[in-house]
Amino acid sequence: MQSLLPIEVDAHLTELVTAQHLDPVLDDMERRAEAHGFPIVGRAVGRFLELQARMVGARRVVELGSGYGYSAYWFARAVGADGEVVCTDTDPDNARLAEGYLRRAGLWEGVRYHVGDALEGLAAVGGEIDLVYCDIDKHGYPAAWEATRERLRVGGLFLCDNVLWDGRVARGDQDDDTRAIVAMTREVAQDPRYVSAINPVRDGVLVALRVA
Ligand SMILES: C[S@@+](CC[C@H](N)C(=O)[O-])C[C@H]1O[C@@H](n2cnc3c(N)ncnc32)[C@H](O)[C@@H]1O
Repeated sequence: MQSLLPIEVDAHLTELVTAQHLDPVLDDMERRAEAHGFPIVGRAVGRFLELQARMVGARRVVELGSGYGYSAYWFARAVGADGEVVCTDTDPDNARLAEGYLRRAGLWEGVRYHVGDALEGLAAVGGEIDLVYCDIDKHGYPAAWEATRERLRVGGLFLCDNVLWDGRVARGDQDDDTRAIVAMTREVAQDPRYVSAINPVRDGVLVALRVA
């Protein structure tokens, strides 16, 4: 996924984050993404996710669509040793890879990985949730929001990746995935219990804070 930002601006953001936090495990995860064309969020968004989680004091995070653990890496840092990150993905190979990378990074302790449908994984999590991060197949976004909106505590966050979808959300002639992203984004914007905005970094990250 190419960033929507000018390439040199994106490189600047990435370089700033890299200067703040060096880890050869992250380098390896990024090399895998490059080699296999796998869509990880990248460093600038990763750091942003960590920041969001820390800002609401998140202790329990649920990821919808975890891949091999790159975004979970940042959430695991944020929740700390006593926290919990529930990863979900349909692909068992991703779960195996995530365990390898996150163990090496010293972050696997608080991670649980549900192999299967993301919304089933979410439903299996009991109690209050501080943060849900959505990065599944785009046609699933409206259902993901529907399943999440009641589950977050007041003061919790819904974060969702790819909400600008390479600019397609603002153009005519939209396909099903684009329409699903737009429909979900409108639902979030119109929910009076949430205050939301989109950070246009990379492919757009929706941030929605539950206020009531
Ligand atoms: C964009 S990748 C996730 C990348 C990850 N968030 C990161 O940045 O490291 C999307 C992942 O979601 C998984 N996925 C898509 N739809 C899903 C669903 N309905 N339930 C569970 N996993 C799903 C795919 O297998 C894929 O690994």
